[in-house]
Amino acid sequence: MKTLKNLLAVVGFAAFLTACENDKSLEDLPVVKDDVSFALDIQPIISAHCAGCHNPANVNPDLRKDFAYASLTEDEESIVPGNSEDSELVQMLERVSEDGKAMPPSEPLSPFKLALIRKWIDEGAKNN
Ligand code: HEC
Repeated sequence: MKTLKNLLAVVGFAAFLTACENDKSLEDLPVVKDDVSFALDIQPIISAHCAGCHNPANVNPDLRKDFAYASLTEDEESIVPGNSEDSELVQMLERVSEDGKAMPPSEPLSPFKLALIRKWIDEGAKNN
């Protein structure tokens, strides 16, 4: 009887660990380096995935090189420096925005690119 109890305890603990595993979707983003650079790491992603639509001939905000940083940081809710979680930009990129907006509209950025953008915001969203 005691063995059975021990066995149940082990099975229960294993189930508990599995439940914890499933509960960390946020931490599933790849780990990226520290000191992410806007110019070297972030702007190239934005130029490749956003500026085709976001330019003066098409849609606001203007996300071309030399304009994207100012455009993205002018709205205080879009990027909250130090808090990627609360940044509306991240919510749009990760498709969890309250107003249903998703950018880019077609297909989400790769987890690696999302992780870089999150890290850049968490490090203060600097124009570095
Ligand atoms: C296929 C074209 C297209 C691409 C690519 C695209 N967008 Fe957009 N974006 C739009 C359109 C159209 C709107 C305006 C309509 C809307 O707000 O849904 C918009 C709106 C926005 C807004 C303003 C949202 C608001 O609430 O006012 C932001 C910020 C934005 N996009 C960021 C991005 C970023 C960052 C990327 C790249 C990761 C991107 N977009 C890629 C078409 C695009």
